[in-house]
Amino acid sequence: LKNQNKMPLIEALVAYHQEAVVPFDVPGHKHGKGAPELDAFIRKYGLELDVNSMKSLDIISNPTSVIRDAEELLSNAYGADKSFFMVGGTTASVQAMIMSSLAPGDKMILPRNAHKSAINGLILSGAIPAYIQPEIDGTIGIAMAASYDRVKESIEENPDAKALFLINPTYYGITCDIDRIVKLAHDHDMIVLADEAHGAHFHFHDELPRSAMQAGCDMSAVSLHKTGGSLTQSSALLMKTNSFVDENHVRNTINLMLTTSASYLLMASIDFCRKKLAVEGQKIFSDLLDIVRVYRDKINEIPGIYAFGKELIDGKGVVDFDETKLSVNVSELKMTGYQIYDLLREKYQIQAELADVNNVLFIISIGDDEEAFERLYLALKEIGEGHHGGVVQPFRKTLDNPEVIVSPREAYYAGKKTILLAKALNGISGESVMVYPPGIPIISPGERISQDIIDYIEFLKTQHTVITGPEDSTVEYIKVLGI
Ligand SMILES: Cc1ncc(COP(=O)(O)O)c(C=O)c1O
Repeated sequence: LKNQNKMPLIEALVAYHQEAVVPFDVPGHKHGKGAPELDAFIRKYGLELDVNSMKSLDIISNPTSVIRDAEELLSNAYGADKSFFMVGGTTASVQAMIMSSLAPGDKMILPRNAHKSAINGLILSGAIPAYIQPEIDGTIGIAMAASYDRVKESIEENPDAKALFLINPTYYGITCDIDRIVKLAHDHDMIVLADEAHGAHFHFHDELPRSAMQAGCDMSAVSLHKTGGSLTQSSALLMKTNSFVDENHVRNTINLMLTTSASYLLMASIDFCRKKLAVEGQKIFSDLLDIVRVYRDKINEIPGIYAFGKELIDGKGVVDFDETKLSVNVSELKMTGYQIYDLLREKYQIQAELADVNNVLFIISIGDDEEAFERLYLALKEIGEGHHGGVVQPFRKTLDNPEVIVSPREAYYAGKKTILLAKALNGISGESVMVYPPGIPIISPGERISQDIIDYIEFLKTQHTVITGPEDSTVEYIKVLGI
């Protein structure tokens, strides 16, 4: 028997606590600072309210009393007709949205920078993807939103598509021309699904981008835990009741994979979060925008660091920008984004949300205050001044839309063999490859492996980043279809 007195996870969590990390990542309550009522509730009742469903507490899979009332308030807060409490993260919300809208063989149009939960939703539903290439910003090197014109082109090329999937906003806070795009899709009888993992707060302040429900999307998956202040893993699925979606079918689909023992602490946190956003959202986000605007300007005075903002708006790939997303482009420093991400944690105890070669992203939310911003600013100033000058050569090539040879589901179930990545040119991928976060696949099951994809994966292997997806985590080998 191994030493069963050890508790590796507990030890790591306590060590994290002792390190007093400044969180610029999710969850958005930021160690409880943005959710003092929830924090006090959990401290007061603790495990006494870690209970199972019972008559007086309703049941998540078929709510008829208190959970239903709480869901109705959530719908009302977001301008939705119906909402569902979700306890399996926004992954579960995204997948339920896709599975309830599409049957095997149906087609869904989606931007190539969609999160893996959407791709996995295609595996679960058996639907076929038609990808749209998002606009790429040449200066900062990140994928923006898909422009109206590109969406229009794709809708015209795929008139048989049943659904259009939108990201509102991208991880970096960028939104598309959502109102016009929704109208266009509806005119073509397509259901519009929105991944609002990073937009839970949009609905509650008029200087934030439009929310999916405001823009008329049929369904939206919102990560209340990311920017709303609820507990990690809590999420919501919102919908309009109209001819595109059947509420009972959505309920049944959610229940396919829903636990029968949903945590009341998670659900309670959604109730707290909704109340706070609905009652205090306007004030909270006004104050937050005031601070973030001051600090974005201050950070922009640091040599070699560019905290991009609303100036990116061009009406195409960037129709609006969420100012509470604070990303810094570091391409004029001698270090990559990945190195700065590590340095911030190791030297300054600052946890960023994610990095790519040229950028580091900080999540700003309901739980941030001036003290946290000052810590971040001072750290970036020291890094900028110490490492200015010397441009990191990024991987400049834009990856084309992959050739989808078989549906993600067919590829998932097909026979596979493992071969060297270097020898995988033209093979059909049997697995996904991605960097997490952001969890956006570089290649997904069923797609042809191109030389650009091999080169890009080889490039990522030279960076300080963790590649996930393939069984071989070093990605020397990859699984392709065939036996
Ligand atoms: C765009 C996007 N969609 C969906 C998800 C899934 O959310 P969750 O982690 O709550 O399952 C994420 C998580 O990072 C995301 O970034």
